Amino acid sequence: MPRYLVTGCAGFIGSTLTDALLAEGSEIVGVDAFTDYYDRSAKEAALAPAREHSSFSLIEHDLSGGVPEDALEGVEGIFHLAARPGVRASWGAGFEAYVSDNILASHAVADAAGDRGIRLVFASSSSIYGDALAYPTPEDTPPSPISPYGVTKLACEHLLNAHARDSGLEHVALRYFTVYGPRQRPDMAFSRLVAALVGGSEFEIYGDGSQSRDFTFVADAAAATIAAMRNGPIGATYNVGGGSESTLRDVVALVEELAGRTLNVCYGERAAGDVKRTLADTSRIRSEIGWEPHTDLRSGLGSQLAAAGALASSGG
Ligand code: NAD
Ligand code: UGA
Repeated sequence: MPRYLVTGCAGFIGSTLTDALLAEGSEIVGVDAFTDYYDRSAKEAALAPAREHSSFSLIEHDLSGGVPEDALEGVEGIFHLAARPGVRASWGAGFEAYVSDNILASHAVADAAGDRGIRLVFASSSSIYGDALAYPTPEDTPPSPISPYGVTKLACEHLLNAHARDSGLEHVALRYFTVYGPRQRPDMAFSRLVAALVGGSEFEIYGDGSQSRDFTFVADAAAATIAAMRNGPIGATYNVGGGSESTLRDVVALVEELAGRTLNVCYGERAAGDVKRTLADTSRIRSEIGWEPHTDLRSGLGSQLAAAGALASSGG
C-alpha cells in the first residue's frame, strides 16, 4: 500500500483528505502543529476517525523549523496542506504567523521533498488572483493578491517553482476555491451561518452580501488532491472550483430554505482583503487529470447542516 505524508492532517481539508486516503488503503503519516488559529478541540475531533485507524500515525510538529526525518521514511508523496489560512486575520500583527506557517514551512517541506525526490502536492488558493482580471478565471490569469494571506500563498507557489529549478522538485499546485462542508473552520462563513442557526445568534455579513464565491465541497477538493498526486503532470497548476458560484445573500436564503427557519442576519463593514467574486475556469484539470466536482451547493450545504444537527428534519 502506498505511504503518504499529509501535512496539516488535523485541519478541515487535511483531515478529510486523510480519511479518504485511509479508506482507499493508503498508509498515512500525518504532521500537524495544532496551531492556535482555532481551537485544538475542533482539530482533535476532525482527526479522531484517523486516529482509530491502524494505518495512521501522527507526529505533532511545527514544520517551519524543518520536516522530521521519521515523517519522510518510506513516503512516496507529500500532500502539503499545513498553513495559516484565512484572509481577514492576515493583516497587522497576525502576519508574522502567516510568514512562518506558510512561507517558512513550505520552504522546509520543499527542501525535504526535493532532496529525496518525493512528489509534492501543494494546497494553494484562489486568493492569489485577487479581484481577478477574467471570469471564469483560468490558471494563466496574472496573479494579483489583495490580502497578505494571498501574498503568502503566491509566494509559496513561486518558492516551489524555485525549488523545482534547483533540486528538480516534482510538484503540483492546486488552487482551491472557498471549500466548505463538515469540519469547516470556525472562522469561515458557512460555519458561522450554521452556528448562528443552531445557537440562535446573529450572522454578520461583511459588506452588502453581493460578494460571490465558487464554493467547493470538501470531498470534491480531497478527490482533486488525490488525483493530482496520482496523475498530475510535474509542475502543473490547477484550479479546484466546485462550479457553484453564489452570492452570500443567496447562500443565506438557501440555508433558510434547507433548515426551514429564518436566520438573524445583520450587515457590517466589508472585510479588508475580501475579493468581490471568484469563479474558477476548471477546464484544465478536467481535461488533463479527469477531475470534476460532483457536489452542488444545495446538497453540500445540506451535508454541512446535517453534520451540525441543523436540518429541519433533524429537529435542530
Ligand atoms: P486548517 O487551518 O483547518 O488546516 C491547516 C492545518 O495546518 C491546521 O490543523 C494547523 O494546525 C496546521 N498547521 C498550520 N501551521 C503549521 C505548521 N507550521 N506546522 C505544522 N502544522 C501546521 O485549514 P484548511 O481550511 O483545512 O486549509 C488547508 C489548506 O488549504 C491550507 O494550505 C489553506 O491555505 C488551503 N486553502 C484552504 C481553503 C479553504 O477554503 N478552506 C481555500 C484555499 C486554500
Ligand atoms: C476561503 C478560505 O478561508 C481561505 O483560506 C481560502 O484561501 C479562500 O477561501 C480561497 O478560496 O482561496 P473566503 O472566500 O473568505 O476564504 O471564505 P469564507 O470565510 O467562507 O468567506 C466567504 C465570504 O463570506 C467572504 O466574502 C467573507 O467576507 C464573508 N463572510 C465570512 C461574512 O460575511 N461573514 C462571516 O462571518 C464570515
